[in-house]
Amino acid sequence: MGFADLSALAYPWDTLGDVRATARAHPDGVLDLSIGTPVDPTPAVVRDALAAASDAHGYPLTHGTPALRAAVAAWFARRRGVPDVDPEAVLPTVGSKELVGLLPSLLGLGPGDVVVHPAVAYPTYDVGARLAGATPLATDDVDAWAGRPDVRLVWVNSPGNPTGAVADVAHLRRVVDAARETGAVVVGDECYAELPWADRWTGPDGASLVPSLLDPRVSGGSHERLLVAYSLSKQSNVAGYRAAFVAGDPALVRGLLATRKHLGMIVPAPVQAAMTAALGDDAHVAAQRAVYAGRRAALLGALGAAGFAVDGSEAGLYLWARPTGDARAGADVPVEGATSRELAAWFARRGILVGPGEFYGPAGDRHVRVALTAPDDDVTRAVARITPS
Ligand SMILES: Cc1ncc(COP(=O)(O)O)c(C=O)c1O
Repeated sequence: MGFADLSALAYPWDTLGDVRATARAHPDGVLDLSIGTPVDPTPAVVRDALAAASDAHGYPLTHGTPALRAAVAAWFARRRGVPDVDPEAVLPTVGSKELVGLLPSLLGLGPGDVVVHPAVAYPTYDVGARLAGATPLATDDVDAWAGRPDVRLVWVNSPGNPTGAVADVAHLRRVVDAARETGAVVVGDECYAELPWADRWTGPDGASLVPSLLDPRVSGGSHERLLVAYSLSKQSNVAGYRAAFVAGDPALVRGLLATRKHLGMIVPAPVQAAMTAALGDDAHVAAQRAVYAGRRAALLGALGAAGFAVDGSEAGLYLWARPTGDARAGADVPVEGATSRELAAWFARRGILVGPGEFYGPAGDRHVRVALTAPDDDVTRAVARITPS
């Protein structure tokens, strides 16, 4: 069996034409809080490592250099509370998105197999299931799939995009226990883990307490059937490098490596060097988090003043906002229960682009996703436009 043809599937961000046109017509210019693409410079420590590795005449290692794999294992131990990642069971990926989209196919899933992903979710989980010919199941309820032998892959996304919800150890453990009963693979997509905001997920100096799927309290000390996908795009401002990795079960990683070697799915050598440097430097990650903290506080204040509640958003790069209906009397605020496109249109009339929640599934259709990835000046201007006068 081959890949399903997805060429006719609409790409959500390409469907925003009318909202985009409204925002662009704003006399003081458009402010983009939609796609979460980093806007701050790539740190010098990362760029220097990339430049120093620019003589890359030979083919790079699909498995990643030993230095990169050791840096990933050390990072898991130092930053994620996971002391037992085997460097052999680490594999760089060309950004996380390709891994998310291809994993069901690379694991050999097909028609009749079910891929579980969060009810409100990054769309690529669904796309990847469809590409393989498998069936996506959008649910946060473990009981909806526990015991089903057709469930072969379960995605956990904590901290979540778009909701910013964080799964605690008890929930992750429940997912793992249920999956192990039927042999399903569980993958944690954790690329926002270094951006905690809620007190309960924030340790000294802003260190993350967001639990990993590979945390021994979750895994019980065995990574069997478990993988974590991680991306440096956000924490190190390298979305343009395509720098990510997957780690966990040595047997699963061996299988992925074998297939990816056949396909030539290789992270370029200079990017591998840049990733190694990025993973060894916590200072730039902390500095970037401080920048986002400022933008987040400003936008939270403005959204609150305009009558929005922000749900979840305990970690990550987004505010997941819905109108409550109780704003200052007389203010032009969206009404409670408005659809996410109506809400996006409300922002567009202020020259602001945000993501309609429906992009993330029907359960998201009463929210908008407001990204923190805009320059400080743009955030200041957005705050002024959102705050009722
Ligand atoms: C939940 C989630 N997973 C994966 C990705 C992909 O990241 P990248 O392909 O830049 O590594 C994103 C990017 O927005 C994301 O939000």
